[in-house]
Amino acid sequence: MDRLRDRRILVTGAGSGIGRATTLRLLSEGARVVATDVTGLDLPPAPGLSMVTMDVADEDSVAAGTAAAVETLGGLDVLVNAAGILLASHTHETSLELWNRVLAVNLTGTFLVTRAALPSLLESGKGVVVNFSSTSASFAHPYMAAYCASKGGIQAFTHSLALEYSKQGLRAVSVAPGSVKSGITDSAASWLPQDVDFSLFGRLLPILPTGLTTEVGNPVARPEAVAGVVAMLASDDGEFITGTEIRVDGGTHT
Ligand SMILES: NC(=O)c1ccc[n+]([C@@H]2O[C@H](COP(=O)([O-])OP(=O)(O)OC[C@H]3O[C@@H](n4cnc5c(N)ncnc54)[C@H](O)[C@@H]3O)[C@@H](O)[C@H]2O)c1
Repeated sequence: MDRLRDRRILVTGAGSGIGRATTLRLLSEGARVVATDVTGLDLPPAPGLSMVTMDVADEDSVAAGTAAAVETLGGLDVLVNAAGILLASHTHETSLELWNRVLAVNLTGTFLVTRAALPSLLESGKGVVVNFSSTSASFAHPYMAAYCASKGGIQAFTHSLALEYSKQGLRAVSVAPGSVKSGITDSAASWLPQDVDFSLFGRLLPILPTGLTTEVGNPVARPEAVAGVVAMLASDDGEFITGTEIRVDGGTHT
């Protein structure tokens, strides 16, 4: 499939999980991609792929990384804000530091990169911003109040963007995955509270078989299942989709 031929795309959080799978999918559809992450990236070399280190929570790093991406690509058509972290705790034990860190990376990071990319996306005339929300924005996830708040904020931020820049042809959409195999879900044992009550997770199970589970036994989807949806949104197949979120959760919240 060639529907993203020569589309110029910046992906954050491209080093792992969904961001990585998305980068590979976009490249496979003909896009030129600048893949960015806070850590070094070890993506396989591919035509059209460049890599840049960028911390989405750091304003200077975002300014430098986004400028480098725009220069490399000669402009920008699509931004995929996939960078994110999950830190969890009982809410009454959540430190202000944890709360601020999650908001800084997930929500403020999404704002910072979007702000830096907007002039180029608007110049493109059909710019697209794909943000990463989560089913946790709309459906209860225990121990994850900061994460859920950050993901709800991303949906509201995305709606606002979609209207504000609609006349310039910009589309802004959030994807809201359920549980997906990634760095975040692989490390669940390290961030779940020691006295975790797994019965609270009974409401978070997909109705479709996934064939994959986390280390703690919960079913998870392949990251490619989300990557394909991002590719559709980035392409003209998503031309009439804006100001909304697409849930990719295997029917968890049906
Ligand atoms: N995996 C899931 O079940 C799930 C569900 C819903 C939403 N999401 C969202 O999907 C997105 C991708 O996460 P994932 O699940 O693939 O996890 P992941 O840990 O595999 O990937 C996240 C990437 O973000 C990068 N990152 C972290 N902090 C960063 C920073 N300050 N600057 C730049 N990059 C940074 C990490 O280095 C990592 O490569 C995240 O926004 C996450 O919240 C994931």
